[in-house]
Amino acid sequence: MKPFKKLFPLFFSVLLACSCASSANTDLNIEKKVAGLLSNMTLDEKIGQMTLISSTDLPLDGEFAEALRKGQVGSVINEVDPARVNALQRMAVEESRLGIPLIVGRDVIHGFKTIFPIPLGLAATFNPTLVEQGARVAALEATAAGVRWTFSPMLDITRDPRWGRIAEGFGEDTYFTSAMGVAMIRGYQGGEPGDPSNMAACIKHFVGYGAAEGGRDYNSTNLPERVLRNVYLPPFLAGVQAGAMTLMTSFNDNDGVPMTGNRFLVRNVLRHEWDFTGLVVSDWASVNEMIPHGFATDQAHAARLALEAGVDMDMMSFAYVGHLGKLVGEGAVSEKMIDEAVRNILRVKFQLGLFDNPYVQEDVHREMFYKPEHLELSRQSAVQSVILLSNDGTLPLDADKIRSVLVTGPMADAPHDQLGTWVFDGEEQATVTPLKAIREHYGHRLRVLYQPGLKYSRDKDLSGIRKAVEAARTVDVVIVCVGEESILSGEAHCLASLDLQGTQSELIAALKSTGKPVITVVMAGRPLTIEKEVSLSNALLYSFHPGTMGGVALADLIFGKEVPSGRLPVTFPKTSGQVPLYYNHNSSGRPFQGNETMLDQIPLKAGQTSLGNTSFYLDAGAAPLFPFGFGLSYTTFAYTNIRIDQVSYHQNDTMTMSFDLTNTGKTAATEVAQLYVCDKTGSVTRPVKELKKFERIALNPGETRTVIWNLPISELAFWNLQMEKVVEPGQFALWVSGDSASGEPILFEVKK
Ligand code: BGC
Repeated sequence: MKPFKKLFPLFFSVLLACSCASSANTDLNIEKKVAGLLSNMTLDEKIGQMTLISSTDLPLDGEFAEALRKGQVGSVINEVDPARVNALQRMAVEESRLGIPLIVGRDVIHGFKTIFPIPLGLAATFNPTLVEQGARVAALEATAAGVRWTFSPMLDITRDPRWGRIAEGFGEDTYFTSAMGVAMIRGYQGGEPGDPSNMAACIKHFVGYGAAEGGRDYNSTNLPERVLRNVYLPPFLAGVQAGAMTLMTSFNDNDGVPMTGNRFLVRNVLRHEWDFTGLVVSDWASVNEMIPHGFATDQAHAARLALEAGVDMDMMSFAYVGHLGKLVGEGAVSEKMIDEAVRNILRVKFQLGLFDNPYVQEDVHREMFYKPEHLELSRQSAVQSVILLSNDGTLPLDADKIRSVLVTGPMADAPHDQLGTWVFDGEEQATVTPLKAIREHYGHRLRVLYQPGLKYSRDKDLSGIRKAVEAARTVDVVIVCVGEESILSGEAHCLASLDLQGTQSELIAALKSTGKPVITVVMAGRPLTIEKEVSLSNALLYSFHPGTMGGVALADLIFGKEVPSGRLPVTFPKTSGQVPLYYNHNSSGRPFQGNETMLDQIPLKAGQTSLGNTSFYLDAGAAPLFPFGFGLSYTTFAYTNIRIDQVSYHQNDTMTMSFDLTNTGKTAATEVAQLYVCDKTGSVTRPVKELKKFERIALNPGETRTVIWNLPISELAFWNLQMEKVVEPGQFALWVSGDSASGEPILFEVKK
């Protein structure tokens, strides 16, 4: 049964049917070519195609070259020198028996040379179009160097900022992650099939990896099938439907089954239910890791489990190349399964046009890097990714009214660190820091002083703070840039405490004690617990590591050339003890009311009582510091006349709603309007709110726009008690607002 297909609206089916006629022919041609090639391959050559190795440091004249010529290596990662890429391709294409080209992969996660904000920052733009354009730039630059496959986008939902890889994803929301992921896939994979600037996307990590227990990377996950289907799988399904060419299995074991050996999820759900015909690659050595997991007894066993699960390509375990031949010989695995895997791999090579065009132009690739339009897109992405979390009116600064600023803090001039995690190819020399941008763009209008205060984010030396305070006394306004070095987030870099590292908090407090207005800029790879720093600051801008042009973006926002429009793609907790804390949690039988007795209000020798108890922490309540979707502007917006076209709908209907959005302030700005829905009663408990739509809307001062949105009722479907994806009839509420914690509910009903 393929229940999701039942819900696919007729409209889209018709559209797809029209646009698919020519691609069906291409597909048929490719299938013929794949079959022809496969029928000529020896078992060893097939297993070679299933082997992916990182070849960066391997000499081109030894064992490795021999393996390429024999067709024992099918693809490589981490090659970015076009001359080397071509040399490798020549061995595969011109010197091997069948001439099958290699795919060259690389982790191009948020840009290749021109670095964009980290994915969590791209998410904060709430702008899929911009994300798609950024991914296209990444593809143009990376393919110029010979990279035709990126291990991105990461579609892992995470509700835990301790997990360092929160930086690499789009946050905590399923619908939102799907939308952003699809945009990125489109950008990477480009338009016309076979275009040499197309880069295959790899949706990862399948699946549940972001729910690592305790936020510790590589840790177990325990997600029941319904939670997987309602929360963690939909972004992958969206990616598959958007045509992602490849997918990567994850490191985690879910409910005891490592994902690289998870037959149910990879073979049954991904392949059979979703009809995924792309290439499934393991994560780095994750085939072998089934041994320490205690799931495989040895490498041969691990190879068999991965193949049976449906993993086509082994990244860096050497388990397939080491054992599949023997396993086929013994009859332990069927060659049919191997053929299926090779078919999936060859299909992608044909789709990328590698057989026609395996080589890269060696002389021109640098011209593609850091083009002015790439840098401008990176700047624009950074501008839209910054979230204004608090402002007492100090921002924006008027460069003609204030006479001097102090720029301070360990992130004020940290060109390496503002690039964020997963930057193999970006260069700090190309990075514009806030200090550099303020000096260059505003230095002629006011005096700019600089004192780092601290050398790096973990620095505990107090002597620099004293110097910063002395300098602060001599200026009109202080801009302090704090946060995290890039190495503190990303893979394996998890934290138990989300407080600012080192003595950064002391730095802010000391600056505040001078009485000067303090603008705090936080540049980090994750949400940090900054309640104290918010209260010490006159204004606070949060910038998930913003990339190459981050400094220009921040300077322009601070001085009002740009207006903040970023919104939080994740909930900000007050303290890490509240984690996991996310807006779309299920309804509790005893929801937090907001008037609970807190720790300091409990009388001495209070007796035990169970009356009125709700779901909260005595010391931290239940509310976050900032909710999902939140972000301020230099203006204000009002939502009025929120209307829906009916009060009751059938399951096949489409709701039309409208509202008036007014810019009630004096500055032209962009609001991110958001639609949330709650299914009041279900056969299983339902989330208190779920995002169903969002749109960036630019308005001039005083302007009102009537916005009309359509919501197919089918989008209210979920996997219910019977494990069927359906819209259950009953009462629903919806909110149209500027974040997940505001707005008034409008009720409607869905009938059978
Ligand atoms: C990561 C993947 C990455 C791969 C290749 C692994 O350690 O988990 O996300 O794509 O390495 O570099």
